[in-house]
Amino acid sequence: MKLPVRAGILGGGQLAKMLAISAYGLGVKPLIFAASKNDCALDAVAEFVIDDGTLGALKNFLAKCDLAVIENEFIDLLRLKNALGKTPLFPSLDCLEMVQNKLHQKTYLQKFGIPTLDFIPIKNMNDYDRCVQNLGPSLVFKREKMGFDGRGNFVCERFNKKKFLKTNSFFTGYAEPFVDFKIELAVVGAVSINGEISVFPTIETVQKDGQCHFAIVPADISEIKSKNAQEIAIDVMKRFGATGVFAVEMFYLRDGRLVVNEIAPRVHNSGHLTMNGFGISQFELHWRAVLGMSLPKKALLPKSPSLAMVNIIGKRKIKTVRNEAFNFSKPGRKLRGDFWIHWYGKWGGTFNRKLGHINCTGISVKQTLKTAQRIRNRIKI
Ligand SMILES: Nc1ncnc2c1ncn2[C@@H]1O[C@H](COP(=O)(O)OP(=O)(O)OP(=O)(O)O)[C@@H](O)[C@H]1O
Ligand SMILES: [Mg+2]
Repeated sequence: MKLPVRAGILGGGQLAKMLAISAYGLGVKPLIFAASKNDCALDAVAEFVIDDGTLGALKNFLAKCDLAVIENEFIDLLRLKNALGKTPLFPSLDCLEMVQNKLHQKTYLQKFGIPTLDFIPIKNMNDYDRCVQNLGPSLVFKREKMGFDGRGNFVCERFNKKKFLKTNSFFTGYAEPFVDFKIELAVVGAVSINGEISVFPTIETVQKDGQCHFAIVPADISEIKSKNAQEIAIDVMKRFGATGVFAVEMFYLRDGRLVVNEIAPRVHNSGHLTMNGFGISQFELHWRAVLGMSLPKKALLPKSPSLAMVNIIGKRKIKTVRNEAFNFSKPGRKLRGDFWIHWYGKWGGTFNRKLGHINCTGISVKQTLKTAQRIRNRIKI
């Protein structure tokens, strides 16, 4: 492919922004297809198109691109298929089709023999009682489409059908048991268009109310388990026909089993610590994979004995945060380890939104995480 490659990114949020920023260093010119002119990724590109919902807009955008990648999988795939023309898309439409719908994704995981929690599809609420009878009284109901940050999931700790039906009378998706896992893990890796595969070390993640709050490396598991998690993730990537970065989220259960929770066919929040903790970030790895450049192996070793990433999630309701300066100059207690702040520059409300993240490297996980959390708490947002 001749340089500069014109790479279209479908989406305008923080993942698109970080993808765009990392593209330049490889001689790739990023173009954004965004939902709104206030999308934060537009800061990072010279060329963009605002989606007006028409097939023509997407078609014209894709015609300008040598290749296209996605920021998230919640895309109208029929529209995309009709607009794509000859532009290569990573991951492929087939792959997106398998992953986009959570129920289909689960069905494929089961079909491929990849360990995952038992589940029962739900077409309507007559299935509710069957789920409780077969899976037990503590369930998680997962909506088949458009779920993220825990939105779309409903935890039913007890048999509270009435309450559930009040807000979810049109629920379609599946139910699975609510598990008291030991820890949550994510494996982020990539498959290149030449079939080369590289994975980062297994990452431990901590979610609150379904939303990722922090991630650490190394995960608090044995080396064998960590390898095992990487093997499962590689199996997932091969079976689902991945190209580019994939993130595979898993539960490490108390009985020692690793089960896949869900798959993200793209760069992922759990991989943000790669930006400062490794010789290559997940974003650069993604570009290298879709451009057919070799994938580094050594660079996938951490630069420091421990890494932490803490999300900056808005705690207060503030209208606009773009270009907001925040004050780090106050001398605080001596912080151990090095840290980096990645600010997304989002417009609009702040409450409960991911506004940025802090990466930190250090000697021990405990210290490194503490430093990242202290920095987070200095940011009054
Ligand atoms: N069966 C379960 N048992 C216990 N906790 C669960 C279960 N399923 C999900 N969770 C918790 O809820 C979180 C969000 O669930 P999940 O990853 O399925 O949803 P999501 O909204 O698609 O999240 P994401 O933002 O990662 O896309 C999980 O990371 C986990 O902490
Ligand atoms: Mg998840």
